[in-house]
Amino acid sequence: MYRRLITNRATTTATRALSGSSAKMAAAKTTTKKKSSPALFEQLSPAQKAYLDRVVRVDQAGELGADYIYRGQIYVLSQKHPHLRPILDHMWKQEVHHRATFNNLQLKHRTRPSLITPLWKLGATVMGVGPALLSSEAAMACTEAVETVIGNHYNEQLRCLSNQFDMSKTDGTTDQPPEIKKLTDTIKEFRDQELEHLDTAIRNDSHLAVPYKLLTEGIKSVCKVAIWTAERV
Ligand SMILES: [Fe+2]
Ligand SMILES: [Fe+2]
Repeated sequence: MYRRLITNRATTTATRALSGSSAKMAAAKTTTKKKSSPALFEQLSPAQKAYLDRVVRVDQAGELGADYIYRGQIYVLSQKHPHLRPILDHMWKQEVHHRATFNNLQLKHRTRPSLITPLWKLGATVMGVGPALLSSEAAMACTEAVETVIGNHYNEQLRCLSNQFDMSKTDGTTDQPPEIKKLTDTIKEFRDQELEHLDTAIRNDSHLAVPYKLLTEGIKSVCKVAIWTAERV
């Protein structure tokens, strides 16, 4: 009897000790959880959200345009200048990837697409087919002009993303939210590829196009107007 009492007491003490230690462990876990939970970013302002909307809308419209420009060039040039086919195919595939990426971003951000998308398709097809009908050099001059404007356009966006999206966090520090970092990386990658297309056009005699100045300056102006419009409409 006495022995059973001792055993019971010992069990109760052990249980208490155990429950005490599990409570401590639970508390420790909570503390660890509290310590490891990541600091949250402040909300984007309405102006920042509107800017991101504009970025996605105009870039999606631009990449759609690029897709149609290269399609037009391939359609006209691949029979007459077969050596250009793999070069054009390579650039076109990259544009298709750019377009698909911005299509996905458009869905993710629920951004309204440009209201005049059919016009971008028509305009870009004309821009791809027209100069290519003149000559392969004229097509390359078109690529040079388009990619110069797009390269500058992406650089402007990168500057703005870098300057205007340093957000406060709940731990008192500031940083760029992950979605902004990801968008920045995407735009950097695409900007570099557009500049490769520009180099490719120069290597393939864009400067020999006739009339070079008229073509390139005319196409640059059209692209700038298109960018301005696609950001807003
Ligand atoms: Fe592109
Ligand atoms: Fe490009």
